Amino acid sequence: MAARLHVNIDHVATLRNVRGTPYPDPVRAAEVCLAAGADGITAHLREDRRHIVDADVDRLRATLKGHTFNLEMAATDEMVAIATRVGPDVVTLVPERREERTTEGGLDVLAGGDALARRVAQLRAAKIKVSLFIAADDEQVRVSKAIGVEQIELHTGVYAHAFDDEPRRVAELKRIASAAHLGHGLGLEVAAGHGLTLANVPELVRNREIVELNIGHAMIADAIFMSMAGAVKAMREAIQRGGTS
Ligand code: PXP
Repeated sequence: MAARLHVNIDHVATLRNVRGTPYPDPVRAAEVCLAAGADGITAHLREDRRHIVDADVDRLRATLKGHTFNLEMAATDEMVAIATRVGPDVVTLVPERREERTTEGGLDVLAGGDALARRVAQLRAAKIKVSLFIAADDEQVRVSKAIGVEQIELHTGVYAHAFDDEPRRVAELKRIASAAHLGHGLGLEVAAGHGLTLANVPELVRNREIVELNIGHAMIADAIFMSMAGAVKAMREAIQRGGTS
């Protein structure tokens, strides 16, 4: 089975917010993506609300009935309260620094300690599936399992940036494969995301232990030239091609 494709629609909101207009609407983008064959929608409610805002989260939940809504957020009390009120299908906990351009690294689950474990427990008590966005590091995978999440998402930023440098790309794919294999063996679902494009996805998804991809920036960029539906179809084909090669 090909990996699930979840489209991150944050940057539709970025384009909207830069002018303070009501358009383009990220919820409409989500509907178009699902109609074109995406398996789910991902949105990141950042603490500074730079793209997705609270009203988008409520509207996404109301619109995405029967489809997976993955809410990415920092592991804070404010965000846990929002998630337990809204009830997304999945919460992906990510590290967040206000000065960063995007989520630059994985969550340090070891350093997260009891506070992180408590927030995971609160989300699970609200019947929300929890995923942790982590570096492809065996120790982080083991601790993720220990604090009781169902899924990990491996950060593919290093792989994406090293794509044109063969030795680094191969080394990074090995590191991802090791973490994915460990996670899979421990009974975790293994997702991947960050920096993924039509060019670098096929090689990544040859690894069948990766069952979900969360892709945003490159797909919204592709949509400028090939429409949102066209970008979803092209990414689906790239995933299919890689998964069968
Ligand atoms: N997965 C996670 C956990 C993220 O934080 C992000 C960025 O918001 C993505 C995937 C998507 O990354 P990109 O926009 O580079 O495709």
